[in-house]
Formats: sequence, C-alpha cells, structure tokens
Amino acid sequence: MTPTPSILELLDHLAHQSAKRSYAPYSGRQEGAVLLLEDGAVIHGCRVENASFQLTIGALDNAWSTAHAVGRMDVAAVAFSGPWSESDKAFLHGLPHLDWAFPAASVAVVSDDLPEPAESLQPLLPDWGDDPVLGAQAARSAADLAWVPESDFPVGTVVRTRGGHHVPGVNVEHPDWHRVLCAERNALSTLVAYGYESASEIHVSCIKDPGGSPCGACRQVIVELAPRATVWMDRIDQPPVSMQSSELLPGSFTGATLRKHTL
Ligand code: THU
Repeated sequence: MTPTPSILELLDHLAHQSAKRSYAPYSGRQEGAVLLLEDGAVIHGCRVENASFQLTIGALDNAWSTAHAVGRMDVAAVAFSGPWSESDKAFLHGLPHLDWAFPAASVAVVSDDLPEPAESLQPLLPDWGDDPVLGAQAARSAADLAWVPESDFPVGTVVRTRGGHHVPGVNVEHPDWHRVLCAERNALSTLVAYGYESASEIHVSCIKDPGGSPCGACRQVIVELAPRATVWMDRIDQPPVSMQSSELLPGSFTGATLRKHTL
C-alpha cells in the first residue's frame, strides 16, 4: 500500500509554503522542508543562508534539528520543496533505525500509513522570566534533548525574540561532521523557519563546560541573524556572563556586497 496521493500533495504544498520563509539574500534560492509527525503535527524548515556560504543551513537540517529541540522524533514522513539532493538522501539514509521509502520525488516516508497533516507544531517554551540565572536553567533543560552520539557534549540554547517568543535549540550530531548543527544555530534557524522576530537574548549552556563559549561558526551566524542580541553563557556554579552580538566577532565578514536578492 502506498500513502494516499492527497497526503503526498499536501506535504509537497506545505514544503513549498516553508520555502517562502527562506533567508536567501545571496542566492535567492528558496527551499523548504516539512516533517510530518505520527499525530499529524507538522514541523517546518527552510534554507537559511550565511554570508560565508558554507555555514548555510539547509531546509531539511533546519526542520530535523527543530524536531530534536522539541523532543519530537516520531517522524512519519519528510517532504522537500523540490527533488531530493543526493546529500539530503544520504543524510536520511544515515539516520539510525529509519527505513525510508520514496513514494514521490520530493517525499520520503517511514510508514505507508500516514496521518492527515494537521496543525503546525510551534516550537516554543514558556517565558523563563528576566533573571539570566533562569535563562541559564532553561538552556540547561533544553540540552537534555541534545543528540550527541559523536561528542557526548550536550549544548542547549534558548532564545527570546523581540516579539516575546521563546525558542529552544540543541546540538544535533551526525556521522558526517559537516552536518553537525550547534545549539545556537539550531535555534536561530528555527526563528527564520517560523517567521518569529529577531533574537533579543540568547542563553547557552553546556553542563560539561563551565567555560563554554559560542564557536566561530555560531558567532558568524549570530552576527548576521541576531546582530542586536545579548548572548548569555551559563557558568554552571557561577552567575552567567554576557556579551553583545556586536562583540562576538570584531572585524567580521558581512558579505554586504554579495547581497543581491531582496528578502
Ligand atoms: N557546540 C554547540 O552546540 N555550540 C557551540 O557553540 C560549541 C559547540 C556543539 C557542536 C558539537 O555537537 C559539540 O558541541 C562539540 O563541538
């Protein structure tokens, strides 16, 4: 039995809707992905470019990392806004315990018995309040959902947006280290995929590293996507310490002359 054509068509349509949220000022290429969960809930991802090009987050990675951050790995199907790339197919086949079938050019399923796509899952947390200690605690809790088979180094991030949304991120690892996504980039790409406002606060925690600090890749992405945020680092047994986004990467590459496409 194959999934009903109407469900496949709807997933394709939803992936195209997600694509419209893409942040693609350099290429103009809009790409979207959706995950259909076993209860019919839908998780969105879109292409999120970066001036450095190679730090660009693909739509599938964006959606997949959001599913980890909200602890919803009961994925029944994945759809992309175009035909699968070889690298996205390799990504899917590299995931443990999932046996994919491809009933349509842009859809992959783990089960033929798909639920009807229902509402979009909003990947949101409750407000943790104004105290940065509570922000650190929220980031520590988020880290419980990190997927870290390669490093055993769980990182959690929580982001407050200017519109008062509270969004989690965790690091998501893969045997191909080029596709590892840090917690900070996971959360920031979720903001783009869901059309939330820009970040005002980013809290980061790694229980195994009281001296932790955002990596160079995350700094490059934070500077571009969250240029006016306060970044708080959990110090575990000490009060959290903060930096402004503008302090993260002095003299950073902005790619200003590469921006050819209006957003
Ligand atoms: N990691 C983060 O999630 N954020 C950072 O800023 C530093 C590094 C993750 C990536 C990888 O999964 C693991 O920590 C080891 O680098």
